[in-house]
Amino acid sequence: MSGIAPSILAADFANLQRDVEMLNASAAEYIHVDIMDGMFVPNISFGLPVCEAISRHAKKPLDVHLMIEQPDRYLADFRKAGASIMTVHYEACPHLHRTVQHIKELGALAGVALNPHTPVEVLTEILSEVSLILIMSVNPGFGGQKFIENTYKKISRLNQLRREGGYDFKIEVDGGVNLSNTPRLTEVGADILVAGSFVFSSENPSQTIQAMKNAQEI
Ligand code: DX5
Ligand code: ZN
Repeated sequence: MSGIAPSILAADFANLQRDVEMLNASAAEYIHVDIMDGMFVPNISFGLPVCEAISRHAKKPLDVHLMIEQPDRYLADFRKAGASIMTVHYEACPHLHRTVQHIKELGALAGVALNPHTPVEVLTEILSEVSLILIMSVNPGFGGQKFIENTYKKISRLNQLRREGGYDFKIEVDGGVNLSNTPRLTEVGADILVAGSFVFSSENPSQTIQAMKNAQEI
């Protein structure tokens, strides 16, 4: 479980099928699907019907990032809409352990995301239960933002906790990821790189994905 997860948030929503097929044929490992509710984050993206439509054409697992309040209400629905990985925010889940169990009971891989200001240490008691930790490297809500430099330090610390505890969760990083920060992110321990605008605003998205994957593998 490592590789590039292009974010469909930066795709052309009027040509979703075309863009999903491009990702199918590319070196992408996952398709990152950003769900925003206008409450947890100050933006609304899209919801269940669009996720389901993406899933109908996708040949890669859907990595669904739920930037929503009280995500438990929708876990079963997103699972039905094709989610393979469901990631909830630590900041949106007062009963995170229960929420993680819920995701696993639905047969999906469970992930937990952290906002930039939240230290990785708050996750100590849940690390043995999850498949993925998503480190936000921008404040969630919008694509195309600038990468926050403190993220390297945070990923290093999480990687150290993983080593010390002998855990096998993957570390994903999301926001402002591009070809220039890929090598250092990989070096400090990030396994899965989410990239939206860098991929979709490039001239040849498929080549860009391949270039990022190559940079990750050096
Ligand atoms: C931000 C989303 C990201 C976003 C990344 O809230 O979670 O997944 O699509 O976009 P870029 O790569 O453009 O920063
Ligand atoms: Zn995301």
